[in-house]
Amino acid sequence: MTRSDSVGVGVIGAGYISSIYLENLCDRFDNVQVLGVADLVPDRARAQADRFSVRAMTVEELLEHPDIEIVVNLTVPAAHGHVGLQAIEAGKAIYNEKPLAVTQADAHRMLDLARQRGVRVGAAPDTFLGGGLQTARSLLDDGAIGTPVAATGAMLTPGHERWHPNPDFYYQPGGGPLFDMGPYYLTALLSLLGPVARVSGTASTSYGERTIGSGPRTGETITVDTPTHVVTSLEFASGPVGSLITSFDVHDTCGSSLILYGTTGSMRLPDPNTFDGPVELLRVGADTWEPVPLRFGQTENCRGLGVSDLAESLRAGSSHRASGDMAAHVVDIMHGTLDSAAHGRRVSIASTFDRPSPLVSQEIGH
Ligand SMILES: NC(=O)c1ccc[n+]([C@@H]2O[C@H](COP(=O)([O-])OP(=O)(O)OC[C@H]3O[C@@H](n4cnc5c(N)ncnc54)[C@H](O)[C@@H]3O)[C@@H](O)[C@H]2O)c1
Repeated sequence: MTRSDSVGVGVIGAGYISSIYLENLCDRFDNVQVLGVADLVPDRARAQADRFSVRAMTVEELLEHPDIEIVVNLTVPAAHGHVGLQAIEAGKAIYNEKPLAVTQADAHRMLDLARQRGVRVGAAPDTFLGGGLQTARSLLDDGAIGTPVAATGAMLTPGHERWHPNPDFYYQPGGGPLFDMGPYYLTALLSLLGPVARVSGTASTSYGERTIGSGPRTGETITVDTPTHVVTSLEFASGPVGSLITSFDVHDTCGSSLILYGTTGSMRLPDPNTFDGPVELLRVGADTWEPVPLRFGQTENCRGLGVSDLAESLRAGSSHRASGDMAAHVVDIMHGTLDSAAHGRRVSIASTFDRPSPLVSQEIGH
């Protein structure tokens, strides 16, 4: 795709994660063109605009810009709903960082309004479009493990307050290990196995307080107001049963594990917070895992790949892969898990989505 039919993009939220997005949207993907960056704090927008040679704008200017078709919403989770709705109201497609919204109501309000306005909703994570997880998808589709029967996932760490100078939000509702890291694991599984029909959950808060371990607030104690060890059981509509453990409560080295089990073998998936491999297969009867060469590129930190895919789909009139429907389903699963844990019952997940189509060529957006 040439620059002349590239899709205009505006970025709202010029914080930590905006650097890799701006780097990729400005230089890696030819089918998008960043026309402006905005932030509640104008100095932050100006600094990133100068660094990436784009225009700093106010949020209002950005939303009124006629050539901006996609708003990439990189604000804090609590603002995802409000900023996303504002952009849809302005007639823009949106692409939100994860989670799509903190509340189920906001997530579904965005989808409803977007349908009324005829605009699209996309959302992170887009790591499932990377070379690692696309190789897994291709192997699954080729029947490498037969019919999937189960999946297990684990993200285990003692907590982010050891390294993050302002970790308060990780310990408030909308934070915790499930809302912070769960979207990576859940999106990877959903992209492979499709929608979840029911969930159940167990959740605990092992420590009522946390002590900040870095930065100017080192030694300060913060209170914990959300579960910090969460076990989710996932009943996929297509049949397999999944289990996911996310924890900020255990002494581990941020261990990540994600495995699919099928009737004729098992597949170890990569860390879903990355775009890379490794992917490994264990065939029935074998006693060692066999590494599989990746079948796709885009294995570096390609954050923004989902935006580029959305841009390509807008021009082609096809479905984009990192969809708002799938991201809203993730929000429903996370709330369903905590609801189940609080009330001791299985929770049906009413929402659904179309499983994203696999990549057929090496690269998006070139
Ligand atoms: N930090 C990471 O490693 C990381 C990784 C992956 C995803 N994310 C996600 O990216 C998003 C942003 O994270 P971050 O680490 O960049 O946060 P950050 O706090 O560094 O940046 C967020 C920015 O959004 C701005 N903002 C907040 N509300 C706004 C509003 N209503 N209008 C305009 N600007 C507003 C803030 O001023 C701030 O500059 C979050 O959703 C997070 O879950 C972060």
